[in-house]
Amino acid sequence: AQDIPVITIDGPTASGKGTLAHEVADALGYQVLDSGALYRVTGLAATRAGLDLSDGEAVAALVPSLQLRFVAGEIWLGEEEVSAALREEATGLMASQVAVHPPVREALTALQHSFRRLPGLVADGRDMGTALFPQADLKVFLTASASTRADRRHKQLISKGISANIESLRADLEARDARDQNRSSSPTRAAADALLLDNSAQTIEQSRDLVLTWWQERRPFPAA
Ligand code: CDP
Ligand code: CDP
Repeated sequence: AQDIPVITIDGPTASGKGTLAHEVADALGYQVLDSGALYRVTGLAATRAGLDLSDGEAVAALVPSLQLRFVAGEIWLGEEEVSAALREEATGLMASQVAVHPPVREALTALQHSFRRLPGLVADGRDMGTALFPQADLKVFLTASASTRADRRHKQLISKGISANIESLRADLEARDARDQNRSSSPTRAAADALLLDNSAQTIEQSRDLVLTWWQERRPFPAA
């Protein structure tokens, strides 16, 4: 697996990680790992199973039994397509509650590593560059101002037909970011060798082209 290239994109909520990961992966023909979706599905399944989300061992024990399938942009949990449920902010909060526990992070490690397949991987999350893929060829830490991020997430939810109050959404995002940054196990942090990208005033295309330029500098495309 050592010669399978990896690009990591970490950062706070709604900074644009998932969008950028897909744009870059599409341009390069790479796989995508949306690691947040794995924490979201774990939080959702644990809540539905009636588990106490503060009990890391109990939540971790549930992980191997999850019947997860990733099919063409859809995520299936058993017989249910859960993509819409996963996007809700309530599910994001469940995800950040289960994500503080080292046994839960450990239980999701092998699954995350399995996304590293040829011809390459773009992985998005909080600890892709620091914990999961420390040898990645290119690490990006993506940020945007708090108001820009709340506004983006609000528009995104509305466009998906999910109603959201901007003030309570902003409070939820701030609480989640604080929990993710302050936990002791793999907090949201830029790796020492990450390149910082504040995309508050950038279009998606500008960010994509910048990352592709960085990639070209590090790992030149094969000659046509
Ligand atoms: O994955 P993450 O939570 O970091 O963010 P995302 O879901 O990729 O992006 C959140 C929203 O911001 C999406 O609707 C993107 O289209 C939007 N966005 C934007 O408007 N401008 C950017 N430069 C980046 C993202
Ligand atoms: O889209 P957004 O950035 O809001 O969230 P996400 O990437 O889907 O992640 C949801 C939650 O899962 C985060 O708030 C973190 O608590 C957790 N997470 C994590 O701990 N480590 C990761 N690599 C990815 C997500």
